[in-house]
Amino acid sequence: MLVVRNIGQLATPRNGAQVVPYGIETIPHAHVLIEGDRIISFGVGDAPERTAECETLDAGGGCVVPGLVDCHTHTVFAGSRENEFVKRIQGKSYAQVAEEGGGIRNTVNAVRQASLDELVGLTLPRLKRMLANGVTTVEIKSGYGLSLDDEIKMLEAVRRLKELQPIELVGTYLAAHAVPEEYTHKRSAYVDLVCSEELMGRVAREGLAEFCDVFTERTAFGVEESRRVLLAAKEHGLRAKLHADQITQIGASRLAAEVRAISADHLETIDAGGITALKEAGVIAVLLPGCSWFLGVAQASAREIIDAGLPVAIGTDYNPGSSMVESLPLCMSIACTQMRMTPAEALVGVTTNAAMAIGRGSRVGRIAEGMQADLVILDVENYAQWSYHPGRNCVRAVIKKGRVVVNNSTT
Ligand code: NIG
Ligand code: FE
Repeated sequence: MLVVRNIGQLATPRNGAQVVPYGIETIPHAHVLIEGDRIISFGVGDAPERTAECETLDAGGGCVVPGLVDCHTHTVFAGSRENEFVKRIQGKSYAQVAEEGGGIRNTVNAVRQASLDELVGLTLPRLKRMLANGVTTVEIKSGYGLSLDDEIKMLEAVRRLKELQPIELVGTYLAAHAVPEEYTHKRSAYVDLVCSEELMGRVAREGLAEFCDVFTERTAFGVEESRRVLLAAKEHGLRAKLHADQITQIGASRLAAEVRAISADHLETIDAGGITALKEAGVIAVLLPGCSWFLGVAQASAREIIDAGLPVAIGTDYNPGSSMVESLPLCMSIACTQMRMTPAEALVGVTTNAAMAIGRGSRVGRIAEGMQADLVILDVENYAQWSYHPGRNCVRAVIKKGRVVVNNSTT
């Protein structure tokens, strides 16, 4: 048994998917009792008598929140694209850089050249830094392989990484991220490959992914092509996710609603009809403030989306092109300062709503009896102070499945 004691403020979403008004329950002077990988109880005051002989972690009067969930990342990649970063600073847009032959295809070349071992080796330190920021569950997409062997290689890397470090990883199949160069003049043959038994079928059969994502965008896949991929995925038991309404408005969020996607992500150019469609279909809206911040473009209209009654989650979109941002706490701060989300909405967005966006809302994202014991102990007095202090790592300790996996405390 492990008891976390001397918690200055315990802060957690109370229920699963939250819609406006988002509720963070706070308990002052609290403790949490953990047995195995589960939370068995929590409450006000010091821990009960029977905990005298248990292992103790002193929170030092800090705030304790659920382990964070990064529900949208491209953490497995090779190579580096700071040259595109410089081009954008000099005035080119993300789409222009991509159209000039840079963008996703650059990373595809690097990933194709990397071995499985190399991909694993490149990704491990990234995950270590994410964990140190309080992130205990991470979704990772393929989509930089774009061939049978290379898409499988990326997802194999995710599978192998599950065994090598404490963060729980969730694989998403994103072969429909870009049309690879060799298929430029035969797009439909590429969509055939994406939907094929040998690739999509294998991903599903071998449990290499739980979700299938599509980049539905003028420069990537149209609505028709995306529908084909997502319906085929459904047949294979892979639930839909979409990169929707990021740069241009082509009806991607309406498609997300139509195929009953678990989430529609990005939404920088969503319109009123798209918001209504997502709401009616019960799709989680995943916003990626780090991406627009990194690209220096307008953020999604978080207020409009939240106030319409949609559950909003926040992810980093960590990738080498549009969001070289691996800190989910930084994204919370950006959500507050640039999107006018409150610290409570931001915390809900990286905990329970993010867990819902990857189908794990009943196990992670909240501090409650029976939930998995994923906790972050912070060096701040209350949860709002975390978003209030961007760029500082406020994490004192991290507990994953009941085990202390990061401990920076000096006490
Ligand atoms: O989510 N939008 C498409 N995919 C990524 C970017 C990938 C890249 O540029 O490498 C995104 O922003
Ligand atoms: Fe993305």
